[in-house]
This record gives sequence, structure tokens and C-alpha cells, in this order.
Amino acid sequence: AIDPQFETNRETVDEHNGHAVWGPVEEPEKLGIHGTHVAVDFDICLADGACLEDCPVDVFEWVDTPGHPESELKADPANEAQCIDCMLCVDVCPVDAIDVDPG
Ligand code: SF4
Ligand code: F3S
Ligand code: ZN
Repeated sequence: AIDPQFETNRETVDEHNGHAVWGPVEEPEKLGIHGTHVAVDFDICLADGACLEDCPVDVFEWVDTPGHPESELKADPANEAQCIDCMLCVDVCPVDAIDVDPG
């Protein structure tokens, strides 16, 4: 599962689609965590798609990640500022790749 303390345990190494990327990143095998308020661990996401289907405000968008061992698509929190903290995505992800921090 995604580390809920990632903001303490990791460092931002990049920016993507207007959000932070938390390392370590070694493309294409290691992609880190995308987003802060809505955070997706790209190294855990296996492209189930439930988060994209269920988010009521369309926070997520697919991005291509060719060569990643888990999946070659990831749910990117491209619109994390729109999140209404309903927690649906956290509940439906089968591999607990998402952390939403309403704080
Ligand atoms: Fe979307 Fe709700 Fe997840 Fe926020 S908590 S990203 S609104 S599903
Ligand atoms: Fe990935 Fe979980 Fe969404 S596996 S596509 S973050 S439901
Ligand atoms: Zn991203």
C-alpha cells in the first residue's frame, strides 16, 4: 500500500501536470508517487481504473508508462485541486495505491 507518511519519508524530485512527484524515480521501472492532496503511488497502481470510473469530479486521467513492471497505464491525479474528499477512490482501489489527505 501507499505510505501515508510519504511527505515525511520522501522528497519531491519533479513536477508533472501541475503536481509534485515524490521520489525515488528511475524510469521506466520506478516512477514514485504523483500528487500531494490526492497521491497515487505509480509503483503500486496496476491500472485497475476504478478510481477513474468512480471519482465524482474527474480528478484522475490516464498517463502512459511504457516499461513499468506493474502496468503501462497509471491513474494520474491531474486535477487534484478539484477533490472533494469523498474518499471513494481510496476505498475502491484494489491495491491501496491512493492516499487522500483532507488535512
Ligand atoms: Fe475523487 Fe473523491 Fe478521490 Fe477526491 S477523494 S480524488 S473527489 S474519488
Ligand atoms: Fe490504479 Fe488503483 Fe486507480 S490500481 S487505476 S490507482 S483504482
Ligand atoms: Zn502526474
